[in-house]
Amino acid sequence: MTTIQFPEAFKWGAATASYQVEGAAAEDGRSASIWDVFAHTPGNVKNGETGDEACDSYHLYEEDVALLDELDVDLYRFSISWSRVLPDGTGELNPAGVAYYRNLIQALLDRGIEPMITLYHWDLPQVLQEDGGWENRKTAEAFQYYAEAMYKEFGGQVKKWLTINEPWCASFLSNYLGVHAPGKKDLQVAVDVAHHLLVAHGLAVQSFRKLVPDGEIGYAPNVTWTEPFSDRKEDVEACRTSLMWHKEWFMDPVFIGTYPDRLVQLFEKHNAVLHATEEDMKIIAQPIDFMGINYYTGGLGRYSEGNWLFDLEEIPLDERRTDIGWPIYADGFYKILRSITETYGEVPIYITENGACYNHEVENGEVHDKERIDYLKQHLTALKRAMDSGVPIRGYLVWSLLDNFEWAEGYDKRFGIVHVNFDTFERTKKDSYLWYQEVVKAKAFEV
Ligand code: NOJ
Repeated sequence: MTTIQFPEAFKWGAATASYQVEGAAAEDGRSASIWDVFAHTPGNVKNGETGDEACDSYHLYEEDVALLDELDVDLYRFSISWSRVLPDGTGELNPAGVAYYRNLIQALLDRGIEPMITLYHWDLPQVLQEDGGWENRKTAEAFQYYAEAMYKEFGGQVKKWLTINEPWCASFLSNYLGVHAPGKKDLQVAVDVAHHLLVAHGLAVQSFRKLVPDGEIGYAPNVTWTEPFSDRKEDVEACRTSLMWHKEWFMDPVFIGTYPDRLVQLFEKHNAVLHATEEDMKIIAQPIDFMGINYYTGGLGRYSEGNWLFDLEEIPLDERRTDIGWPIYADGFYKILRSITETYGEVPIYITENGACYNHEVENGEVHDKERIDYLKQHLTALKRAMDSGVPIRGYLVWSLLDNFEWAEGYDKRFGIVHVNFDTFERTKKDSYLWYQEVVKAKAFEV
């Protein structure tokens, strides 16, 4: 047995997102978001499921906070539903929506848990979508308005903020691959959306410096790690493109102030042009305090002409996959973290999401999710190896506290360390919760 020991100052946490857990979709003045519309359109989400009720955290947040308290985590990452606090997208605040987050924040602080707020976890107010959504640069300005309103309300108490969650998903997965809201399949739209999300991020960081001068802000790109299947030049290049699409496209503008040329050209070959002014690039390249990294999967890739992922075919390393079908590749976690530090230098990192989908059910009041514990052990071991090699990782937040609405996959796909019965909303701690509780206490675990 080996003990994997983390430093005293390392922060432990758990994460969720508004549309995935809150429910109460039409309550207390919340207006619809693009996810309400998308999920209510037949064919978009498995079994026609929606986030109308989700985990009912809007009503049961005190139970969630009690679970976090018992877990003894330092941090809870949650997101604000933009259309709950600003039903018109901008303009007047909705007092009931604001009160919900005020109460949640207070409940966390009362128990010594630090809130980490994500401003945008994909639920754009539908009214803004009707005005072009993220295709329209004006949405980035609306985001700045929303961000400022939230800093004014909560910046006194909350010091850790994230602007945009997984911009790759909010742009390409949603507007090129069509899997997430608003479900478009147009590369030009996706490229515009990606750019406006980054502009929104930059504008929100600028405002943050004025309104929360003692706080820390970052964003949370999602990354994978795809290794060439062979050392054939084509395979190596295809993997390089994939890495660039997830990593450099969303990080170069922030840290270097430019987009990677090679990808600009590739998009052009597919008839999508980047519209970015010099002024935009300056806005995006605001210094940030930390980077959030979301990592779940990786594997092998090989060149395959005409494949939908820019000539890349992804192939699993071996048979090991989680219940959502994603290959398990803990070593890829180490490698992508190294690669980020090698490219951008020592930007502090929080792992804002890492976790696994396993669909265990409750048996006699218990949930035996050994596979999730194994996954977490492997990934935390890889993370510690990255830290030991000099990657400045400050904390780790498991995805997710609760089983929740897994977007286009609906409720069948469970990522929680707490099981949720979606009929009764009953919460049941899984074995992984009990294991994580020990890890948080000891700041260590055995492998
Ligand atoms: C990333 C997203 O941020 C989160 O919302 C989602 O549930 C997990 N990945 C798992 O797919």
